[in-house]
Amino acid sequence: ADLSTLNTLGVPARAAWFAEPTNLDALADSLAWADRASLPVLLLGGGSNIVFAADWPGLVLRPALAGRELIGTDKDFFHVRVAAGENWHETVRWTLEQGWPGLENLALIPGVVGAGPIQNIGAYGLELADRIEAVEVFDRDSGEVRSLTHSECRFAYRDSVFKHEGRGLVVLSVTLALPRAWQPNARYRDLAEALDQKGITDPSALDIFAAVVEVRQRKLPDPARTGNVGSFFKNPIVDEPAYAALKANEPDLVAYPQPDGRFKLAAGWLIDRAGWKGRKMGAAGVHANQALVLVNLGGARGAEILALARSIQADIETRYGITLETEPILIE
Ligand code: EPU
Repeated sequence: ADLSTLNTLGVPARAAWFAEPTNLDALADSLAWADRASLPVLLLGGGSNIVFAADWPGLVLRPALAGRELIGTDKDFFHVRVAAGENWHETVRWTLEQGWPGLENLALIPGVVGAGPIQNIGAYGLELADRIEAVEVFDRDSGEVRSLTHSECRFAYRDSVFKHEGRGLVVLSVTLALPRAWQPNARYRDLAEALDQKGITDPSALDIFAAVVEVRQRKLPDPARTGNVGSFFKNPIVDEPAYAALKANEPDLVAYPQPDGRFKLAAGWLIDRAGWKGRKMGAAGVHANQALVLVNLGGARGAEILALARSIQADIETRYGITLETEPILIE
């Protein structure tokens, strides 16, 4: 199967086998078939966080499970279950239309619901983990469906148990707890500025939704027009001495203090400061409005994008002694 239209970077790649099960039985059958044939399985969602620098020799499985429902309401929360194959942004919009706020900061993130918990999508001061109550999975080892509690998911910054036990667990649905006593979360600088410019001082969830959409459209390339996978690197977390040493040389350094006393640095700022913004290497480029995003300028291969990423990593290592970790999944 051709994967070039199934990854938002828009690079060419092929899968030896491809399946798009629409129900649990079909999904279990596909996995059992791959196991019998000893084929490696790659789970693919919206293809918005993966770089194909090679073809996939086994089965690419794209769970197309649909369905969204309110499963309960109590004094604190609306409990909402959403199947893995639903589009993320449409789900955010739908919850707001239903009068269940809480996901608005995560508007316009590409991809499907089932991928959300894997890398714990986050933006503008909110992480999906903040709203997740449970994740229902198909456990490939036992062949059973089970539910992981919030703590069993071991969420961290762009991380979860699913990144480490990826082979074994297939996300079927996500159960969200959306707060009835909702409070706006609009302290993130870009978001606060966008609301301020519109003269909004006491934003509703819909105001925040609209402002996030606006900011993202201004800073991030639209994958439908320019191939990209969002942030290409994680924001590195360093200890206090390392932060202080950098800050002494770079007074404008952007850093966010963490609860554990360490500092999360803005990788985009470092890459920008190192002069990479807008630069090109072959058909791979650094986005002109956000240096953390690499773009396919047209006809790039995955290997070209990775070559640019490695040049940036080497340069940041030399200049700042910081190792940037890639954020998307790399197939090489
Ligand atoms: N900055 C620059 N130059 C740049 C890019 C950023 O100076 O080229 C500075 C900004 O001015 C700002 C700081 O760096 O002071 C942080 O930039 P921004 O607010 O754009 O966010 P980010 O840290 O680069 C993270 C997430 C994004 C998410 C935004 C908004 C990661 C890896 N990325 O980016 O997530 O949308 O915050 O919350 O944590 C993604 O994961 O794909 C993604 C887009």
